[in-house]
Amino acid sequence: MLNKDNVTEVLKDVIYFPKGDNIIALNMVDNLMVNENGIRFDLIVEHKDDPKNEILVNAANRTLKGVFGEIDIDIKVKEEETALSKVKHIIAVASGKGGVGKSTVAANLAVALARANQRVALVDADIYGPSVPKMFGVEDERPACFERDGKTVMMPIEKYGIKLLSIGFFVDTDRPLIWRGPMATSALNQLMNDTLWGEIDWMVVDMPPGTGDIQLTLAQQYHVTGSVIVTTPQQVAFADVLRAAMMFKEEALQIPLYGLVENMAYFTPSDMPEKKYYIFGKETGKQFAEQLGIPLLGQIPIVEKIAESGDQGTPLALDADSPVTKAFDAIAQSILNS
Ligand SMILES: Nc1ncnc2c1ncn2[C@@H]1O[C@H](COP(=O)(O)OP(=O)(O)OP(=O)(O)O)[C@@H](O)[C@H]1O
Ligand SMILES: [Mg+2]
Repeated sequence: MLNKDNVTEVLKDVIYFPKGDNIIALNMVDNLMVNENGIRFDLIVEHKDDPKNEILVNAANRTLKGVFGEIDIDIKVKEEETALSKVKHIIAVASGKGGVGKSTVAANLAVALARANQRVALVDADIYGPSVPKMFGVEDERPACFERDGKTVMMPIEKYGIKLLSIGFFVDTDRPLIWRGPMATSALNQLMNDTLWGEIDWMVVDMPPGTGDIQLTLAQQYHVTGSVIVTTPQQVAFADVLRAAMMFKEEALQIPLYGLVENMAYFTPSDMPEKKYYIFGKETGKQFAEQLGIPLLGQIPIVEKIAESGDQGTPLALDADSPVTKAFDAIAQSILNS
């Protein structure tokens, strides 16, 4: 019989695969109206332009018609209001390998995007070893929290015009917590969802090393526009980097790769800024990018100042005269043009 209860029951057979549950359980069905003329409801999605929406609408249509026959079905796709609904793009800065410069690239890329007049946020998803507070010199600050609709909402810290958030603001980084997988993903979800982000053009996410829970959660539960893969020119690094790149590219995750950044590509002594010593070979980054089938977005030299400025809380890309700044500006431009 065609009535609201039965329609709801049938819609429980429509699964939204990215979240592994049915559209009723996920609260994606709103304003359901059922009468002799047919069925009407709003399908609440995170992003209106997501191609997965159409698949879901078709599945709902097919499932309902399979049970109730050829009736009129009117499904309107509506975007839900969430903490992230005004965030236009999410970029994951990732690498399979630790210590290759993901955080350095994420911080300086955020600065370069902000210089290009973009509204930028930087999320430190490295729950295990947060570095954003230190790199921006805000270790002692604490995000303001307030209650809204019975929920605690955080305000990101703002520095150099960039909205920052990190688990490092809430835990003592000298005594690292032992996170179990679910705790880590829930910490990430809180940073993403319980924060008043407002209007953001680019949210840069500094990922932990590897291909674990955090990477999977970000890829599956958020609308990641693309990822930037960081490598160093050594072959040993590349094996791990390849694994991470494949994970993002993999069909189930389907996250486009903006390209590769080769960090520590060559050495430039501070007293001879025009010199470039390619210790691990000049073509390595290019070859890695070719093997991955993605563009080489940029090559960042080894310069002492990068490490120093990171420790002092002033990302080097803030310094207009540094050659490193030009490299990050170019990386930001290729992302903006992609
Ligand atoms: N191009 C560079 N020149 C000199 N030092 C650099 C450069 N890139 C990164 N470093 C330094 O190398 C160290 C590791 O960099 P960073 O923390 O960005 O790597 P990571 O990949 O984020 O590491 P982790 O896997 O621990 O998160 C830092 O001390 C940083 O300042
Ligand atoms: Mg890091």
